[in-house]
Amino acid sequence: MIDFNEKTKVFTLSTNNTTYAIGLLDNVLPIHIYWGKKLINPISENWKDRYYARSLSPLDYGKYSTNYLPLEFSPYGGGDSRVSSFSALYSDGSRVTKVKYKGYEITFGKPELEGLPATYAEKGDKVKTLTLTLVDELKNMEFLLYYSVFEEFDIITRSVKIINNGDTAKLHNVLGVNVDFFGAQSSDVIHLDGAWARERAVARNPIVPGNQSIESRIGASSAYHNPFIAVCERNATENRGDVYGLNLVYSGNFYAGVELNSYGCIRSYIGINPHEFEWILEKGRSFQTPEAILVYSDEGLSGMSRRFNKIIRKRVCRGKYRDAERFALINNWEATYFDFNEDKIVEIAKKAKEIGVDTMVLDDGWFGRRKDDTSGLGDWVEMPERLPNGIDGLCKKINDLDMRFGLWFEPEMVNPDSELFENHPDWIIHTKGREPSKTRGQYTLDLSRKDVCDYIVSAVGAILKKANIEYVKWDMNRYMSEVGSALLPAENQGEVMHRYILGLYSVLEQLTSKFPNVLFEACASGGSRYDCGILYYMPQVWTSDDTDAVERIKIQYGTSFVYPYSSMGAHVSACPNHQIGRTTPFDMRCNVAISGQFGFELDLNKCSKEEIETAKKAVENYHKWGEVFHKGDLYRLRSPFDTTTAVNQFISEDKQTVLVCIYPYSLIPNAPDDYIKLEGLEEDAIYEIDGKRFGGDYLMNMGIWHKNDLEYKTQIIEIKKVN
Ligand code: DGJ
Repeated sequence: MIDFNEKTKVFTLSTNNTTYAIGLLDNVLPIHIYWGKKLINPISENWKDRYYARSLSPLDYGKYSTNYLPLEFSPYGGGDSRVSSFSALYSDGSRVTKVKYKGYEITFGKPELEGLPATYAEKGDKVKTLTLTLVDELKNMEFLLYYSVFEEFDIITRSVKIINNGDTAKLHNVLGVNVDFFGAQSSDVIHLDGAWARERAVARNPIVPGNQSIESRIGASSAYHNPFIAVCERNATENRGDVYGLNLVYSGNFYAGVELNSYGCIRSYIGINPHEFEWILEKGRSFQTPEAILVYSDEGLSGMSRRFNKIIRKRVCRGKYRDAERFALINNWEATYFDFNEDKIVEIAKKAKEIGVDTMVLDDGWFGRRKDDTSGLGDWVEMPERLPNGIDGLCKKINDLDMRFGLWFEPEMVNPDSELFENHPDWIIHTKGREPSKTRGQYTLDLSRKDVCDYIVSAVGAILKKANIEYVKWDMNRYMSEVGSALLPAENQGEVMHRYILGLYSVLEQLTSKFPNVLFEACASGGSRYDCGILYYMPQVWTSDDTDAVERIKIQYGTSFVYPYSSMGAHVSACPNHQIGRTTPFDMRCNVAISGQFGFELDLNKCSKEEIETAKKAVENYHKWGEVFHKGDLYRLRSPFDTTTAVNQFISEDKQTVLVCIYPYSLIPNAPDDYIKLEGLEEDAIYEIDGKRFGGDYLMNMGIWHKNDLEYKTQIIEIKKVN
């Protein structure tokens, strides 16, 4: 619901449980008044009394200390010296932009963002959009600030469209979205950082005066940081306290952070990284910024995650597999690496079929000259030495086992040792006169070029047409360097990284709509590009190359801050673990992987009888519990970052089933008795655990008894509501 009060000049954006309010200061500047728990009473007309001129702060438009005001949009050039929402170089050499409010519009539903992924509304959703128009009259620039309110999801999304009606301008910063808070100085800032094999570790730090930021500069959202930031009360816990989260629907370079100024105002912001960004905007053209999803929760960090998880699951992910039960698969990568042929793959599939696995995925190595990871990328034609009957021949054999067939691609890359590179050396991201660096022996294809994008669509499409392929693992294994494009003129070279992402989105849009029956899974050396931009096209991501169960507890925990378990590819692999050498029990590996998109990444022919039995039981449980993990509500009860036992609790959509996943990964000898208090149950309902009955109030206030008496003794406890 969106309301504008003419008298108070306040826009009130309400969801079922939250309010976001914007006031028009003297009908000129949109001011951020409030974001938080739903307000019952209208905002008082006195909302503006508190703002006054601060010493030494330039007075914009003769009267406003914009350096201190909580502004909804703040371009560079006036008195506000904080991180700005926009900046440009104009044809007269000026870099100053100054905006005034011009008007508003409230519409039903949500407009699509041209060329960009974004949340969407479905028929029956209570979604409205507020558009505030701001103008720079001197430069003839218009800024449309979009606010879409998803009532039932308790979500607001924001983005900005920049329209140039004046002379050509060079955009330098199109960050777009910031939320300015007063009264939140004693807060923490949370983000997710890491590296390959340890993605999305939770980093929580006090907000201190000045600017604290995270970013990506490598052409993908990256494993270093995730395009997400949260501000929370210092004493907020998993399930208590105020939390404000911002997540960007974008897969490229981003910038996010918080800036606490000297007047107690925290500016939180998220958008495309201004670092080395440029975009030439000619007269009559517009630029659309990516969308930010904004979540407020008064139910702590888990509350924030439940809202993010739900909107992403239901209104970011799309297509046939959004709501469908996904696959229980086996992938040959860690079983064979490059040492495979058709017979070996069929043997692996046969054994997997015996335990109930329904999909065989053939990973890297099936194409071109791909003898190892130094050659072949770019040439998407079968290698006869490994696949004498082609992809269609192997696919048929897998289908004959009554299994689906899936295939790996890395379409955005090329090896110098490939036919594609020999024919098109200028198709890579590179800068004239400089030796392009290789990572894993490969270069990045220049997806800012239409001819390159067309090639990818047709080469991948040709293979997908050729056989009954029902799953694609879309890999991407390097970050960008020496960025430049052979096609663009010198003055447009600063556009390459954003153009690349737009190219990638157009390729994905074409392929996913041409092949609606294929389940696409994203991968970037594991989880190096795990973001809502990608999830819009591919509803699941290979969470990490690190398949060690202990490390995975942490990786999945951090990932769940924003992204639902239904989006996390999670497989059981062999021990000692190939990434870190640790040995964990087979049932622990199953218990950790089972809540994600479950599968195996090993040769089951090499497993013991007991392990096969455990694997079989895990597949059964996965089918029984998958809906609860993937569509239910997550309550993180204990964090692996500050306890020795991580605990996740899931409540099914119909509230009848509760699963408690207990993951001790560090043993306490002769451990003290432990009680795990549950969350989100019905106080007056009765629940049953292994035939024993407990009240919901008892389980939440006293908890379930747990003994940490054996190293790595993980458990999944099923609780059923009985009345
Ligand atoms: C990196 C991925 O993360 C792995 O799962 C595997 O697909 C390899 N690439 C194959 O080269």
